[in-house]
Amino acid sequence: MRCWLVGAMVAGATLCGGALAQSNEPIKPIPLEMKLDQRKVSLGEKLFFDRRVSEDGTVACFACHGFNTGGADRTPLSRGIRGQEGAVNAPSIFNLAFNSRFSWDGRNESLEDQILKLMLNPKVMGTTWEKLSARLNTQPDYVEAFKSVFGEQANAKNISEAIVAFERSLITPNARFDKYLRGDKTAITEEEQRGYQKFKAYGCIACHQGVNVGGNMFQVFGVMGDYFKKRGNITPADFGRFNQTKNEADKHVFRVPSLRNVALTPPYFHDGSAATLDDAVDIMFQYQLGRPAPKADKELIIKFLRTLTGEFRGKPLQ
Ligand code: HEC
Ligand code: HEC
Repeated sequence: MRCWLVGAMVAGATLCGGALAQSNEPIKPIPLEMKLDQRKVSLGEKLFFDRRVSEDGTVACFACHGFNTGGADRTPLSRGIRGQEGAVNAPSIFNLAFNSRFSWDGRNESLEDQILKLMLNPKVMGTTWEKLSARLNTQPDYVEAFKSVFGEQANAKNISEAIVAFERSLITPNARFDKYLRGDKTAITEEEQRGYQKFKAYGCIACHQGVNVGGNMFQVFGVMGDYFKKRGNITPADFGRFNQTKNEADKHVFRVPSLRNVALTPPYFHDGSAATLDDAVDIMFQYQLGRPAPKADKELIIKFLRTLTGEFRGKPLQ
């Protein structure tokens, strides 16, 4: 198996090497709070919900990263400005503070990189930093807000700083599984505990681990079989990391996605091709583990995955 670790930790460190985890569980709870500059967070929040950020004034970040839909949307490929369909499924906006790579193909090394490029994407916001700054600097509410938070007019740097601060505030702690990890052995049922044991025993944990149960390494999609050949209709987005590096070994390599709140974010995969968690886990068994999924074990694993749904602003996500 090919394996690239990006600041990751695998307890036992059998498959991928790397540092041993602090505790003996390879998944860590989400911290209960983030220390952030609340004034930047609030300004970032205002921008996140504001359609004026998009070139034609039709789309806000929230359209594709909804808080009632697990931080993502419920469509295979979302639509940006002028109704254009994107190339990949929208990932969740929650818990990004704990990822070490961003975007499906991991091309962005920080949230700052991600936002700088996102604004320019013709299929998402379709603007330029000059246009966006100029627009915000004619809106009295923003003139006031940027002056008070940053002591200057809106520009690429402070707009992204505010949005990134807001993104880092979007955490979903206190999943039942996190309570279990913190020592409350009754927080998950006996079946869910067995599901977690299966998740480890089958090797899902080799790729999905750390605070975000993913989000911290690159892996081939199709380690044990050609997923893309089977699915057909290959698009440039299917080449994953190869698009950046042009290295053959990076063909179909993706950042392993986080499984936090995964029960709330169908459809699944970068292509949005799996409609249900059941379908997604079947595909993982087949193409990442090279074996069919025994029904009873798959059901236990899915029960475990459902314990990863956390709380947002003190209320359980649903
Ligand atoms: C039209 C739908 C759409 C809109 C609007 C949108 N996004 Fe996204 N977002 C996506 C998609 C699709 C991706 C995945 C892109 C990729 O991986 O190539 C993504 C990825 C991201 C990521 C990286 C997540 C990760 O897991 O690495 C962040 C952060 C993000 N968006 C923030 C924002 C912010 C902030 C805004 C508003 C300024 C915004 N998005 C607007 C669809 C959207
Ligand atoms: C060899 C690494 C690897 C193993 C092992 C692995 N996965 Fe994955 N998983 C991935 C990658 C890579 C993706 C993203 C594929 C894509 O969409 O391009 C993924 C995606 C997923 C998704 C979809 C997430 C989303 O938001 O779209 C689920 C659910 C999932 N895996 C569950 C599992 C389960 C359950 C197991 C064990 C039965 C497992 N995975 C084993 C690497 C792995």
